[in-house]
Amino acid sequence: MKQARVNGVELAYRDEGVGAPLVFLHAFPLNQTMWDGQVTAFAGRRRVVTFDWRGFGASSAGDGISGMDVLADDLAGLLNELQIGRAAICGLSMGGYAAFAFARRHADRVEALILADTRPTPDTEEGKQGRRDAAELVRQSGPAAIAERMLPKLLGPTTCRDRPQVLSQVRAMIEANRPEGIAQASLGMAEREDATPLLGQLSCPTLVIVGNEDQLTPPSDSEKMSRLIPGARLAVIPGAGHLSNLEQPEAFNRHLAEFLGTEHG
Ligand code: MLT
Repeated sequence: MKQARVNGVELAYRDEGVGAPLVFLHAFPLNQTMWDGQVTAFAGRRRVVTFDWRGFGASSAGDGISGMDVLADDLAGLLNELQIGRAAICGLSMGGYAAFAFARRHADRVEALILADTRPTPDTEEGKQGRRDAAELVRQSGPAAIAERMLPKLLGPTTCRDRPQVLSQVRAMIEANRPEGIAQASLGMAEREDATPLLGQLSCPTLVIVGNEDQLTPPSDSEKMSRLIPGARLAVIPGAGHLSNLEQPEAFNRHLAEFLGTEHG
């Protein structure tokens, strides 16, 4: 794993393969290894970049709240370090929230967008309180308590029944994170802006992906979102919950490859 100093933090990243850049943004509260199946599948034909958000995995934490604008600017800084101007950006869930902020703040750097298991709308008041409670919980009881609370919602019933090893893999990712990084991002998500007004202004090719068993950002949200983005395509993946790339990697990679193949030759 390589390290780059960006905006006062050390970001751990991978940069593999050659070709048009394709950057993957991980979900909360995981790390960049959630994209291993995509790195393997795409590094033969693209320049694939993954990294740990500040406070996650092997990246250091910042001092304040990890808001989505902060994450988006970290991404821009990392791309600068890697001398990448424009890239296809694939964000899942919190990665998608950060991708919206990146598209708002650095629109000219977005070649294409892949929005997986995410939503443009901000949290309700109840949702914001839930984020504050989660920050408190992780600071007091550690990441295992967050894993316990989130795991039943992150994975779909098909994965829990047929591929229990994915459950162990996700639990291990969550438990390896530091409490403060999780707390800072939880509070950051609570503050995120409504990205709905941005959707109609997106002019890059966009693919929306969602697992048909996603409880956190259900397919109905993705259908609505894809209708608001000019020319967007929608792919619904059977047998996947919220972590569609981990739960059904072959289907996820097929949709992504078809999209990138058509849009970028
Ligand atoms: C994620 O997968 O990134 C989180 O579930 C996002 C969220 O809690 O809204």
